[in-house]
Amino acid sequence: MTQPAHFQVAIDGPASAGKSTIAKILATDLKYVYVDTGAMYRAITLAAKQAGLAYEDEAGIVALLPKIEIAFLPGEPVQHVLLNGQEVTEEIRSTEITNNVSLVSSYQAVRADLVDRQRALTDQQPVIMDGRDIGTTVLPDAQVKIFLIASVDERAERRFKENQAKGMNPDLETLKKEIEERDYKDSHRAISPLTKAEDALTVDTTGQSIGQVVATIKQIIKDHQ
Ligand code: DC
Repeated sequence: MTQPAHFQVAIDGPASAGKSTIAKILATDLKYVYVDTGAMYRAITLAAKQAGLAYEDEAGIVALLPKIEIAFLPGEPVQHVLLNGQEVTEEIRSTEITNNVSLVSSYQAVRADLVDRQRALTDQQPVIMDGRDIGTTVLPDAQVKIFLIASVDERAERRFKENQAKGMNPDLETLKKEIEERDYKDSHRAISPLTKAEDALTVDTTGQSIGQVVATIKQIIKDHQ
């Protein structure tokens, strides 16, 4: 195992476990760059929609990849995501994109392309990267690997509150079903499925405040520095 030149923290886990909230706070406090890899898969899914492609059109989506530029800009409370220079921060979180991103992210060439882009972001700076395959595939030598989990009920409750805050009228049972479906698809795809890296530490956020989880992971990072 080679130690990466710049410190790497990998945070993986299922949908709505709190990965991006926690990763962003840690990155701000520790002055690391935060890389939200889920946002990158979502941006590719949106690019397919904008190009008028069916989500099942793997060859069409793969042909689009060289023309897709994804950038992150710092922002509060969330980073801004730019797709070919256009702000798509909210659009990539729509229900349509959320329900189709698992399919698009199962395409081998999409994953290979994004994994290259994700690794390139670690060349110059310490990073906290969150996703599904960061500890297993993207950054196998990361100094710290966290597997963040929470019960399905609690994750559905969190999504419910988020959607309510956005002025939507969510249904808790539907959200629970969507989360379970996405968990299943993300954990059962052929390439880089969601799995805990052998050397990852599991942190269960069920019943924990954001502050408690941040403190737990900060201590883990400190212990590995
Ligand atoms: O973290 P998120 O919910 O924004 O991720 C959206 C989807 O992208 C998720 O359902 C699976 C996929 N994804 C992936 O396959 N690999 C990653 N490293 C990150 C996300």
